[in-house]
Amino acid sequence: KKIAILASGNGSNAEEIIKHFDGSTKGKVAVIASNKKDAYVLERAKNHDIPFFSFNRKEMEEAVLEKAFEELDVDLVVLAGFLLKVPDGLIHMFPERIINIHPALLPKFGGKGMYGMRVHEAVKAKREKETGITIHYVNEKYDDGRVIFQENVTVDENDTPEDIAKKVHALEHKYFPKVIESLL
Ligand code: GRF
Repeated sequence: KKIAILASGNGSNAEEIIKHFDGSTKGKVAVIASNKKDAYVLERAKNHDIPFFSFNRKEMEEAVLEKAFEELDVDLVVLAGFLLKVPDGLIHMFPERIINIHPALLPKFGGKGMYGMRVHEAVKAKREKETGITIHYVNEKYDDGRVIFQENVTVDENDTPEDIAKKVHALEHKYFPKVIESLL
């Protein structure tokens, strides 16, 4: 099965997914695409010999992703730190075959503008006793599709947002590739 990854930034999750499927018979990362041409995730793609490309908003609106993924015969689209809203055309083309990872326990700490460190800062400000990760299907709204998987981690009173981010990233790296494999 062929996996396409959409990412806007660093791409540590993308890297874990690439490694997990390296040599696997179940699936492989067929392409990585980013809306930021200098995103580090594209560097990672290059280093692993994974095809990659970047695109701008206009190209996205003109269905560049739909065309590319159709041509590559992609089976599953994985959002790993992708900060734009996924075009409706893509959602219709891949019903229940686009998934996202969110660094909190949805429906808490989700929605437009809730991404990256902002999430962990909000968790800290609300003095939450635990946080975690949510892997879910993508629909037309932000962070709203059906939940596939969640895992929790304890937040200690003294944890800084950076500490929380570290814990959450560790969970993401541990579970995201496995959950993807289970969906293939
Ligand atoms: C992750 O925390 C993910 O939950 C969120 O964006 C972050 C991406 O991190 N959607 P990375 O680029 O994979 O390191």
